[in-house]
Amino acid sequence: MKPISLNQYLSLKNPWTSRILGLTPFSKKRDLEQIEREYDRDKYGALLEFEFDNIEQYKLKEFELAGICEKDLTSISFGEEVFEADLKLVRSIYYSTISSVVQKYKPQRICELGCGYGYNLSYLQSICSEVYGGEYSRNAVDLGKRLGMDLQVFNYYNLEDYQIVRDRSVILTIHSIEQIPSASSFLSGLEKHRQKIDWVINV
Ligand SMILES: C[S@@+](CC[C@H](N)C(=O)[O-])C[C@H]1O[C@@H](n2cnc3c(N)ncnc32)[C@H](O)[C@@H]1O
Repeated sequence: MKPISLNQYLSLKNPWTSRILGLTPFSKKRDLEQIEREYDRDKYGALLEFEFDNIEQYKLKEFELAGICEKDLTSISFGEEVFEADLKLVRSIYYSTISSVVQKYKPQRICELGCGYGYNLSYLQSICSEVYGGEYSRNAVDLGKRLGMDLQVFNYYNLEDYQIVRDRSVILTIHSIEQIPSASSFLSGLEKHRQKIDWVINV
């Protein structure tokens, strides 16, 4: 792992820098039409075409379809410091960090909302005997179920869908809550089932 300066990290190679500076537009609307297109059809629908035996092969195919290679260099920060390393190493640090943070809450059950096809949950099986999830994309749910994951169709906007939450659950969201423009349905849905929820962790 090589330390890099903040300036190197924020160079114009970083797409977020040019978006934040207004040099390139970022016009993606986060509505359900976009989620259907971007996730259900283009990402999970495309993966569903493949027949692999395990979830790791789907993750690697997901990278390949997005033009990403595990040897590509990417950035990771620890506190104020930024480092460059290959994606494989950064991924292993990322998932072990998530596992160790979630483990601190001694989960009886872990429920990831907006869980895709359950990749994070498959990882968290090593720290918790019951992991389950809810996800908007039917293709992702079908793919996860094919891989033996305990997933259900779930929409952040539908208050009834929060019924999927089981007793003594840690609720986890990983890069999914930012997909909804307002947190109000998420907060109301959790509030309705608060007796069943031990903790809520948003990554
Ligand atoms: C960036 S992906 C993250 C997936 C997974 N959490 C992960 O870390 O691999 C965002 C996920 O949020 C899901 N999502 C978007 N809007 C949603 C909604 N209204 N209800 C439930 N899930 C939604 C998408 O379908 C997608 O799977």
